[in-house]
Formats: sequence, structure tokens, C-alpha cells
Amino acid sequence: MDHFIYRENRLFCEQVPLERIAQEVGTPFYCYSEQTLCHHYQVFVQAFASFPHLICFSVKANSNLAVLDALYRQGAGFDIVSGGELARVQRIGCPGERIVFSGVGKSSAEIQAALQYGIRLFNVESLAELRRINHLAGQMGRKAPVALRINPDVDPQTHPHISTGLRRNKFGVPYHQALSLYREAARLPHLELLGLDCHIGSQLTALDPFVDALRRVLLLLNTLEKEGILLRYLDLGGGLGIPYEEGRLPPHPGLYADALLAELSSSSFAARQGSLILEPGRVIAGNAGVLVARVEYIKQGEEKLFIILDAGMNDLIRPALYGAYHTLLPVERRFGQEERVADVVGPICESGDFFAHDRLLPPFQEGDLLAVRSAGAYGFTMSSNYNTRPRVAEVMVRGDRFAVVRQRETIAQILANESLFPVQTAGSTSDRGV
Ligand code: LLP
Repeated sequence: MDHFIYRENRLFCEQVPLERIAQEVGTPFYCYSEQTLCHHYQVFVQAFASFPHLICFSVKANSNLAVLDALYRQGAGFDIVSGGELARVQRIGCPGERIVFSGVGKSSAEIQAALQYGIRLFNVESLAELRRINHLAGQMGRKAPVALRINPDVDPQTHPHISTGLRRNKFGVPYHQALSLYREAARLPHLELLGLDCHIGSQLTALDPFVDALRRVLLLLNTLEKEGILLRYLDLGGGLGIPYEEGRLPPHPGLYADALLAELSSSSFAARQGSLILEPGRVIAGNAGVLVARVEYIKQGEEKLFIILDAGMNDLIRPALYGAYHTLLPVERRFGQEERVADVVGPICESGDFFAHDRLLPPFQEGDLLAVRSAGAYGFTMSSNYNTRPRVAEVMVRGDRFAVVRQRETIAQILANESLFPVQTAGSTSDRGV
């Protein structure tokens, strides 16, 4: 359920007409509904209420400070993957105990910053990383809290770019090496061996892969127990899909939780009162945001009708990158006009710059506003300055009010970090020997 709804044929976010935001902020812009974010978070938390847990919102899905702050105030923790994301959660005042750090390539500086801040858990993906964390923690006179991310070799049945739990993927420790790595980790003096982590992919629309992965992981936990390695945390990652298309409904978070808890409840991990960690991203933020754009031109090609927007693949890359489907809605609904099949595209100089191909749509006209649905996750965070286009504004709606929570970037800001090659001055030497 979300709070993007039509009232008298005008699309609202909560109680604010999107048209009003467009007038004040200009287009394109991302618009987030705070109430939807909080609702999604609460549905997720309630689903796991019967088991000790920590929900760590995956910051990469939407890292806007206002979004993070709204979730933090609901009780969320955070799953981070970089020093930059650590700085964001620090900025909103989130204590270290609510932060887990994932990712295959953590740099020394990032590890040190996280140790300094005292995060809850490093999800470690290789022996080399284990050794590096041990070394850095030793230098700092600390013990690093670690979990090993296990690759269970389970097919998540999702787009290949966002599948992570297969043997051929770069993620996690191979299942069959896990035991020896745990033994090694248990010997390293500056580590506190606390958990097991597993994330198999994103936008999963079936429960079986989650359950298969959990079964494999529980077997491993049992083996570890027999060796006297008793882990306190089981992190099952994120990955639950959302409806992008009407009529195609992934499992509700309640069913997802039921399926996982059914496996877990009889486990010795539960008997030992272990805690679950979950890292949902998309299921919380995806349908809490839209991208609003304006139609610049309508063009009748030889084969196709093109609706050309002022937003492009640099603003929302999901269709180009994953062939992702996003529902497109008119911000003002008019009836009585025939729908037309069209391609909806952006202004970028690439044929991959599209939002929809051959889509049956209301007859948009030049100047109309259009909302790209389900853009609250992996929308703004994956945007870029390609074609030297400033990143768009982000707006948060709370009830009948809205606020710009990230200003539209300016061209001056884009250029500010660049410079020409310095001119040679008298007395300076030149490598080029000119
Ligand atoms: N935990 C880990 C370790 C992850 O790698 C991810 C996502 C998550 C949690 C959150 O997954 P979620 O609940 O959002 O599915 N850019 C792609 C999605 C990439 C997902 C990367 N990892 C897209 O736009 O579909």
C-alpha cells in the first residue's frame, strides 16, 4: 500500500498534488512519501515481531538523509556498503550498534572508520578481508565484530545483474570453504566471531530461493555448533521483490517472514536465542517514491510514436540497465481520449535511454507531467551526471506539507571539481621536456 493516489483525477502524494510540487520545484524531481516509507517499515517489522531481530535498511536503495532519518525514527538500523554511507548514517545520529557493514571490497580506511565508530557487525566476504580486519583492529587495540557472508549457491531466479547467491557470483565465501574460514577466523585474536550472513539477490518474487538458502545456512550453523562455534547473529540480507506491474504481486512481507520463521523456529539457533538481522531495501523504499518528469516533445517517428521527457537514463537507469518495467502515470488524468502505443524516452544520446517501449498510454501532450512509479529504490542513488546533466531535486512529503530534501544540482556544482591542466609558470619544470 502506498500514498500516491488520484483525487479528482490529479495525482497526489499524501495530501499534496504533484503538480504543485512541480510548479514550485521544477522538473524532474524525485518525490518520496514519508508515510509510505514508515508504513512499509512497520509492516516489515511486524512480520518478524515473534523473533528477536534488527532491521537494517539497505542504504544503497535510497540514501537521502531525510529518508534515513524517517526510518531511523521508526527504529531502523542500517546496512551500509561504503565509508560514504557510514558518513550518512553517522550524520543522522544512528549509533554504531544499529549498523552492519557489507560489501566485497571494503578499503582499509573504510574498515578503520567503521571500527572507530563501533559498528555492530562486519559482513566479511573473504579470507583476505578477515585478515585485514584482524590486522587493523589489532593496530587500533580493538576487537572487530564479524560475520562471514556465505554464498549458498542458490538460484534466486531474478535478473542476472542483481543475483548474488550463485557460485559464479563474486559475493560471499564459497559454501564448502565456510567451515575452514570459520576455524581460521576463530583463531584470529582481534576478531569477535559473531555471525553468519547470506544475501542471494534482489527483486526476488518467489519464496523458495530464500527458504533453500536458509536451509543450507542452518545446516552450516549446526556444523559450527558441533565445533563449539556458537554464533549470535544470523543476517539473511534483503532481496524481497515489490510489485512494479499491476497484477504481478511478489509475496507480502508477512508471507516472507512466515516462510523464514517456519524454518528457524525449530532450529537450535532459535533455542539459543540467536538474533536475526534483515537488510531490506527495495521493499521499504521502492514504492514510496516516484520520479516526476515533464513531456518536452511528442514525435511521430516512421515506426513509432515517441514521448520525449525531460528526465533520462542518468536520472533513472533501471530500464536501461535491467530492462526494468516501471508503471507510468499521468499526473493529470483526462478521460474520453483514446490511448496510444508509444515509446517513452529521455533526452540522452543513447538508444538505451528509455522508460518504456511500446507501452499503451493515455494521450500525453507536450507540457504534461508524468510520474514514473516505484522509483524510490535504486532511483536517485544510481543517478549520474551523464551528458553533464545536474542531478534532480528530491522532495519529501509529510501529510499536507512537502520539503526539498536535496536541492537540484547546478551546472556550476558539476564543474566545480574540474580544472584545466595547469599552465607552466617560470621556474617550474616540465616532465614533458618541452
Ligand atoms: N544486502 C545486501 C548485501 C545487498 O547487496 C543488497 C542489495 C541488499 C541488502 C538490499 O536488497 P533489496 O532488499 O533492496 O533487494 N540496483 C539494482 C538492485 C541492486 C541490489 C544490490 N544489493 C536494481 O535497481 O534493481
